[in-house]
Amino acid sequence: MSNIMTIDHPLLQHKISMLRNKDTGTNEFRMLVQEIALLEGYEALRDLPTEEVEVETPLMKCRTPMISGKKLAIVPILRAGLGMTEGILALVPTAKVGHIGLYRDPETHLPHEYYCKLPSPIEDRTILVLDPMLATGGSASEAIGFIKEHGGVRIKFMCVIAAPEGVEKLSKDHPDVQIYIGHIDERLNENAYILPGLGDAGDRIFGTK
Ligand code: PRP
Ligand code: URA
Repeated sequence: MSNIMTIDHPLLQHKISMLRNKDTGTNEFRMLVQEIALLEGYEALRDLPTEEVEVETPLMKCRTPMISGKKLAIVPILRAGLGMTEGILALVPTAKVGHIGLYRDPETHLPHEYYCKLPSPIEDRTILVLDPMLATGGSASEAIGFIKEHGGVRIKFMCVIAAPEGVEKLSKDHPDVQIYIGHIDERLNENAYILPGLGDAGDRIFGTK
């Protein structure tokens, strides 16, 4: 599946292992999610378009590349995607930030939307959708569907841990979307949690439950 990239950098894998540890506390967990987002973002944004601009160094004028056009929109899926936002903003501080609020019904595991606010216009931007967990793939697929309805075209999705089931659904529903993954785990359990996973990402980032 050519639209899927797992990022096997040792620094990233080390940090994911620390996230998985049940004894990692909220503060450290939050920092690790940001750092992982930054490392993944570095790869995910490798193809941002650039243009040559003129810059005057202390020695002479030269033409040199800068990121061109309307640049980047980041769209974290609430809540857990918020944990990745600062990591991407550290790379691209001028990015616009939209938000999509979705929660999974605990019985059906289907996503329900409760909030959607996107930068406008969005057509010309590269859009990076953030969520640490890709489990059944329902939330990511729904969020990307909303973004397309609002006119989004050039969409990438970035997660920390994915289940094979979620990867398959997302790439089938949105074959045009490039998917960046820290690690693909074994499977989902009967509650649609990723195994071995890291538990509930939102609860661990925000210290709830
Ligand atoms: C989690 C996670 C994803 C979703 C993944 O969010 O952050 O958004 O589940 O599951 P899926 O691939 O099966 O849809 P949750 O609904 O628990 O909400 P929260 O971020 O507010 O905790
Ligand atoms: N959401 C999470 O936060 N963790 C999972 O394992 C699955 C969905």
